[in-house]
Amino acid sequence: MKKVLVLHGPNLNLLGTRQPEIYGHETLEDINNGLFEQAALAGWEIACRQSNHEGELIDWIQGARLDGTAAIIINPAAYTHTSVAILDALNAFEGRVIEVHLSNVHQRESFRHRSYVSLRADGVIAGLGSQGYRAALDAVMAAER
Ligand code: DQA
Repeated sequence: MKKVLVLHGPNLNLLGTRQPEIYGHETLEDINNGLFEQAALAGWEIACRQSNHEGELIDWIQGARLDGTAAIIINPAAYTHTSVAILDALNAFEGRVIEVHLSNVHQRESFRHRSYVSLRADGVIAGLGSQGYRAALDAVMAAER
């Protein structure tokens, strides 16, 4: 069974109550449940994880190198704009990487316009809300068919 890992970075555990005018009303659990259903229908195994800690996200990315994970979908949240360490970890992963942002980061403060992760990502989706994760999952599953 093919495997995909979905990683959510800091503060995304607050989705639904965190600035809903920017990030929407769906909770992280709502988003993950939808992804589980979508993956199961296609016969894929999926793991969805969230952390507020950079090192934990890196440990999970490193784990994905060894356990046959075909693709990583990642919303690194604020670490997008700061983390060379997450970029380095993704550079050591050989599968597909899709970067997702709920909001259109390019319409926001200039510090959100730079993404270290985009230097590695095969695709980037921003501004589609939770639909962005579903589009990313479709894209990785289609690429492996
Ligand atoms: C975000 C955008 C980031 O700039 C921000 O720090 C987040 C969420 C998004 O999904 O739109 O926490 O990645």
